[in-house]
Amino acid sequence: ATHYLADWRPFPYQITETRLEFDLAPRATRVRSRIGFVRRGDGDLVLDGAGLKTLSLAVDDKALPLSLAGDGQLIIPAADLPDSFTFEAEVEIDPEANTALEGLYLSGGIFCTQCEAEGFRHITWYPDRPDVMAPFHVTINSDMPVLLSNGNPVEEAPGRAIWQDPWKKPAYLFALVAGDLRAVSDSFTTMSGRKVALNVWVRPGDEGRAGYAMESLIRSMKWDEDVYGREYDLDVFNIVAVDDFNMGAMENKGLNIFNSKLVLATAETATDGDYERIEGVIGHEYFHNWTGNRITCRDWFQLCLKEGLTVFRDQQFTSDMRSPAVKRIHDVQTLRARQFREDAGPLAHPPRPDHYQEINNFYTATVYEKGAEVIGMLKRLVGDEGYRKALDLYFERHDGQACTIEDWIAVFQDATGRDLTQFKRWYTDAGTPRLTLTEDWADGRLVLNFHQETAPTPGQPEKPARVIPIALGLIGPNGDEVLPTTVLEMTEPAQSFSFDGLGARPVVSLLRGFSAPVTVDREIGADQQALLLAHDTDPYARWQAGHDLALDGLILRAGGRDGGEDFNRALAGVLADAGDDPAFAALCLSLPGEEEIATAISARGGIPDPDAIHAARRAQMLDIATTHETALARLYDAMAQPGPYRPDAEGGGRRSLRLASLAYLSRLDGGARAEALYRTATNMTERQGALEQLIAAGRDKAALADFAAEFGANRLVMDKWFMVQPLRAAPDRAVARARELAAHPDFDWKNPNRFRALIGGLTANHAGFHAADGSGYDFLAEWLMRLDPVNPQTTARMCSAFETISRYDAGRQAHARSALERIAALPGLSRNSSEMVTRILAGL
Ligand code: ARG
Ligand code: ZN
Repeated sequence: ATHYLADWRPFPYQITETRLEFDLAPRATRVRSRIGFVRRGDGDLVLDGAGLKTLSLAVDDKALPLSLAGDGQLIIPAADLPDSFTFEAEVEIDPEANTALEGLYLSGGIFCTQCEAEGFRHITWYPDRPDVMAPFHVTINSDMPVLLSNGNPVEEAPGRAIWQDPWKKPAYLFALVAGDLRAVSDSFTTMSGRKVALNVWVRPGDEGRAGYAMESLIRSMKWDEDVYGREYDLDVFNIVAVDDFNMGAMENKGLNIFNSKLVLATAETATDGDYERIEGVIGHEYFHNWTGNRITCRDWFQLCLKEGLTVFRDQQFTSDMRSPAVKRIHDVQTLRARQFREDAGPLAHPPRPDHYQEINNFYTATVYEKGAEVIGMLKRLVGDEGYRKALDLYFERHDGQACTIEDWIAVFQDATGRDLTQFKRWYTDAGTPRLTLTEDWADGRLVLNFHQETAPTPGQPEKPARVIPIALGLIGPNGDEVLPTTVLEMTEPAQSFSFDGLGARPVVSLLRGFSAPVTVDREIGADQQALLLAHDTDPYARWQAGHDLALDGLILRAGGRDGGEDFNRALAGVLADAGDDPAFAALCLSLPGEEEIATAISARGGIPDPDAIHAARRAQMLDIATTHETALARLYDAMAQPGPYRPDAEGGGRRSLRLASLAYLSRLDGGARAEALYRTATNMTERQGALEQLIAAGRDKAALADFAAEFGANRLVMDKWFMVQPLRAAPDRAVARARELAAHPDFDWKNPNRFRALIGGLTANHAGFHAADGSGYDFLAEWLMRLDPVNPQTTARMCSAFETISRYDAGRQAHARSALERIAALPGLSRNSSEMVTRILAGL
């Protein structure tokens, strides 16, 4: 069944309090609920439930027939209900059988929950919709040593704990954890003087790996006070790490539950990227306390109200904690790789969709990352002060409410007096606008002619013009900036802007800071790109100029022509200054990936050939390595860090430049340096970096065996082992390698991290996954069909590996189609996967 935004109706009852009592048992947990309702409109009482064994039902102590409990819904006619009443139910559920990891389940002996989006209905009968908010009172009966729920602890006795959450919340923010856990503890005193007890709960033995998560939490709490004036509102804040989790983490009120890979880290086991993600996601979940929990969503169509804003906030946080330039470039790379890809294919949808079959399929790059970009544009349009005023108004006006994108836009209009009618299209329209620039130059006057166009997306044939903030500067021919950053506001399909009084013709530094999520099409020569790469004052635009130059060369080479010399030449300058900002230099040095090259070829009307792209990229790397061997070797040595490992931006920047150099040098030394680094590295960043080069060089046997011997007992580290092999294998070996690994006794495929490591490692190997014989597609389909009955959410998410298929040749399309049709024909295919496969097939 399809759900439509237009069908939303207010829930006709209000809940005064939700009381829950759990008797925990792996195979038969009893849940007793007492829910106080007050009528506030017309309509029957409709409760949601899924997979519940209903033992009793009552209203105001009068038993109801169990036959009321239908398949998915329990409906009590309004006529049978007084104006205020207490609903009671007792149900039995089976956490051990819950492999879908939705509702209450067991992960390595720990009871835990995941209720967003619609998991609570797997726990008991309830109005499982985000606009129904209530204070919760929770009793847990269990002999597990640690018993946690939302809010503040009220009573703790052996075998029982009571928690009370005074802040009303929707059911998706409910959480319960019970297990043998150990805490890493600290405290935080808020700006008004409230002392908050902080705990990061982990399995016994992991206490030494949770310190960074705790430091990140404290930094997040401080940052949200300093930057947004937001204070924490309970006496305790608990974080729990579990090994089996469908996504990254969950912002349950006062009790965040995390995938352990986003909590546990030591220098020996986690990479710089892992540390940065831990800090970012700890921040993200913490920031949800205000943007998500205190102010939540009216319905799931509004998901980007909390996710777009919270991603935007976590991006600002990381930017403040680390390097703003590097963070911005990383975010643009992610957006392009994941969201532009989504927008260009059969799964395209707006940040605020207006229909869905399975909401869990809409936790997407569009809702999250594009949702954040849209807020970045708003902030640029209204200015920092306008943004701050709008956010203050948002918190003041909507605290305790379940809101919509319309509410969000209204606070910006009211706080700044700006009409945002046209801007709202960014929320309702799918697709990435293509911005075209042509220039006229005469008599010291530069005219910039912009044109915007958005291709149709499924269900949206017409694309009216959007408001596009275009930040730009002008760089003179000798490299000085003749116009500092200026923001143009484009509102028409075509619009020109002119700049007078210029001495010599400047080069436009376009879309500074990536001021809008658009693709750019412009005439620009290699010399001009090289000029920007050398002199642009905006770090993002500088990096982008080099990146475009590299991409142009790679596309030529993949088409069998000469190319790449310009980029190769321009790198001399990058290498000469590399020591000044190693992280930035590493970004400039890294060539566009194969997937990105394929995307660009297809955007220019070609059909990408994965093998040719792979070969072109390797050839380009060899050329660069040969030309710049001395400088690269010098950098490789200079970036070594003898002191203790520190997971900060500076140390990470040096390591990233060292590894970027190593990738080139390995083309020349056959992996000799990588082998030496693998043996001597004392941190996982360099360990993994070296291992990846050894796999690419086909010189990996000893290192892989050594890695497994050293880390075999550490699940998170072994995920890396399972991921890098299919990812870095030569394309013609990748599927075979993935098959071998799938037969490995440690391939615990029911664990989402392990499944994603191996299967996702292969799908991220562009030429390997898109093998011309369709073996990559067959392998993926086989595993999706095996996982679907066990874990539909994780299966459905991985179906998106097929979303780009229509850009490849007919042979590959035919192989992919038959793989997708096999999945579609699986008896009992989940609603999650069925929706994904149907949408993808519709685009073929
Ligand atoms: N709200 C969580 C976050 O962004 C994501 C949880 C989504 N889980 C799911 N099964 N859809 O941090
Ligand atoms: Zn979130």
